[in-house]
Amino acid sequence: MPVSTSAFASTSAPAAGPSVGVPLPVLGRDVTVPLVTGGEVGYAALDHAASAPALQRVWDDIAAYAPYYGSVHRGAGYLSQLSTDLFENARGTVAAFLDCRDDDQVVFTRSTTDSLNLLAAALPADCRVLVFETEHHAALLPWPADRVTHLAAPRSPEQAVLAVSRALAAHPAGTPALVCVTGASNVTGELWPVREIAAVAHAHGARVVLDAAQLVPHHPVSVRELDVDWVAFSGHKLYAPFGAGVLAGRADWLRAADPYLAGGGASRRVSRRTDGGVHVEWHEGAARHEAGSPNVIGAYAIASACRALTDAGFDTLVPRERYLLRTLREGLAEVPQVRVLSLFGDDAARVGVVSFVVAGWNSSHFAAALSAEYGIGVRDGLFCAHPLVHTLLGGDPQTQGECGAPDAAPGEPSLNAVRVSFGVGTPDEHVERFVRAVGELVRDGARWTYRTQDGRCVPAV
Ligand SMILES: Cc1ncc(COP(=O)(O)O)c(C=O)c1O
Repeated sequence: MPVSTSAFASTSAPAAGPSVGVPLPVLGRDVTVPLVTGGEVGYAALDHAASAPALQRVWDDIAAYAPYYGSVHRGAGYLSQLSTDLFENARGTVAAFLDCRDDDQVVFTRSTTDSLNLLAAALPADCRVLVFETEHHAALLPWPADRVTHLAAPRSPEQAVLAVSRALAAHPAGTPALVCVTGASNVTGELWPVREIAAVAHAHGARVVLDAAQLVPHHPVSVRELDVDWVAFSGHKLYAPFGAGVLAGRADWLRAADPYLAGGGASRRVSRRTDGGVHVEWHEGAARHEAGSPNVIGAYAIASACRALTDAGFDTLVPRERYLLRTLREGLAEVPQVRVLSLFGDDAARVGVVSFVVAGWNSSHFAAALSAEYGIGVRDGLFCAHPLVHTLLGGDPQTQGECGAPDAAPGEPSLNAVRVSFGVGTPDEHVERFVRAVGELVRDGARWTYRTQDGRCVPAV
């Protein structure tokens, strides 16, 4: 079966040139950090896949709203009404950003992890779940252990679709099933064939939840076009780091489920029973799963980021990202000691997330040297996707290694990896500096000495 990523309309856009500049400014662009070798340098934040810096526009929107902040849903005062409006309107902005169906529901959560746990708590009683073992732990772990099937790592998008099709064919007809799939891997950056998986799932009567944590910051996501049932993502990866996330999609399972949290806000009416207990009528809409005082700042920040990305246009953002990704991957390809990790191969469509290992280097040591000697912030380790990294490294990955020592004897698999990731506020210089730094570190070695502290490498002084 041909598998395309054409649902992500802009993947076919040409790579832009360096002259385009930074399309959306972020906070921290003027921050300098000290180098162990002396002096200061502008901080190159290349760990967007973990948390992206706030967009300047998000910050400005929050600052403009902050004086008007008030309690949501409960207050009679003007500012409470204003805050309630902002919070409720944020749902519409997110729904438009995701191109949701008219009757979809947008629930504000704390994060992708929270969103997927909410959906896990709302599964119909006999629902089975299919999930690839390659998923981020947030998508791998929330499901009931006796009802989940873990699919082995596919080596191509076609294999992924086939694996879902085969597993669902073996599934008892008439019982509900849910397929959980990522849009873009937080380790390899590779895009998954979401639309094709959704088509196969629906043909078998199953539903699909898309973990879009790494997709929404990089690509337009259309719920209608991908035909997924739910989408989960986090504000802090979408340039809106104010503690909110989203679960958007079908209302029926959510309406039928017990409230995720019990408390005020989720309850419409609580009355005393004659036998002494209380009777609760729960809300049926999104509020059912949003008990407690909602995070209006977080929700408003997500809505602001959605508007900013829409205004900038993915038609502009995607080619720019592709240009930076090409610069980065071509730079790494020139260093023979570097091995870029990939499940689907070199030609796979991907976002600006790249993980790699360097022969002769412990990944923690390499990441520490990038930070201390070049002012570049990346991530090292297993990226909360242990089974995937295990598959990619071909060994038994570890979160720790001995600083200074290579993490693997020649010919042995590496223990963990380095991840570099960027976004809409990343200037060319950050990626260019990173490529130069990798080349210099591999060629000349670290200029400083490092020691192990709590399992991580840190500069010796
Ligand atoms: C693909 C993917 N899914 C889920 C998550 C979990 O996101 P959060 O920590 O915001 O809940 C992450 C975080 O890195 C991720 O990369």
